[in-house]
Amino acid sequence: MPIYIVLLGPPGAGKGTQAQIISKELNLPHISSGDIFRENLKNQTELGIIAERYMTRGELVPDDITISMIHDRLSREDCKPGSLLDGFPRTPAQAAALDNTLAEFRGKVNAVPYIKVPQEVLIERLTGRWTCRAEGHIFHDRFNPPRQKGVCDYDGSQLYQRDDDTEETVKNRIHVYFKQTMPLIDYYRQAGLLLEVDGRQPIEKVGADLIYAISKSI
Ligand code: AP5
Ligand code: MG
Repeated sequence: MPIYIVLLGPPGAGKGTQAQIISKELNLPHISSGDIFRENLKNQTELGIIAERYMTRGELVPDDITISMIHDRLSREDCKPGSLLDGFPRTPAQAAALDNTLAEFRGKVNAVPYIKVPQEVLIERLTGRWTCRAEGHIFHDRFNPPRQKGVCDYDGSQLYQRDDDTEETVKNRIHVYFKQTMPLIDYYRQAGLLLEVDGRQPIEKVGADLIYAISKSI
């Protein structure tokens, strides 16, 4: 049976940072809806051009577009053993669509780790974030600095700041998260799948807590 893990948490909680650790540990591909949109934008595909309109404002890309994109991605060969989802689902309609998609693959959501971080920490995390051009490795000016400023430790590629990491857009992303994504916390808690982890701890400790909680529940 495939294993599907859904990582939940507000913008800047550390979903991408932790997914890079956990996906290796669990041997599951890391599927980030935000990364797929950014990749499409870089390649100027039709999907990327549509998504950009929403992303630059910190709004969600419409459900139908996002759901069909994730369905395609999860249908690929590398997702046969399952996957670690980061940034999807983000609305109740997406969560329902995911349940249907996984049933198609004879699977279900097995665990939903929720990285809890208070709102006041998020703006500083996002406005200080640096991301690598090649593979999306994640750094921070203060909390996780690269060895050499502007250069990725892992592949030597250039680090950049995301267009949606300005203070104004970050505030809207947080607002959108509370309005549209928070209901999923209750949805998965009621399903008995939610695993709460304190995301204010150092990166390695959050990773260890996540792996422990996931391993116990799957
Ligand atoms: P997406 O790319 O998913 O962005 P997000 O959810 O806003 O989350 P982030 O990637 O900003 O944060 P993160 O939790 O991954 O944190 P990170 O590990 O980088 O989505 C972008 C946009 O795409 C959306 O706004 C929307 O437009 C669109 N989109 C995507 N999915 C969609 C969907 N399903 N439906 C519709 N639209 C969708 O960490 C942040 C910083 O903190 C880093 O600098 C890191 O080094 C630092 N850090 C991490 N952990 C710690 C720690 N423990 N202590 C100190 N610093 C830490
Ligand atoms: Mg991310």
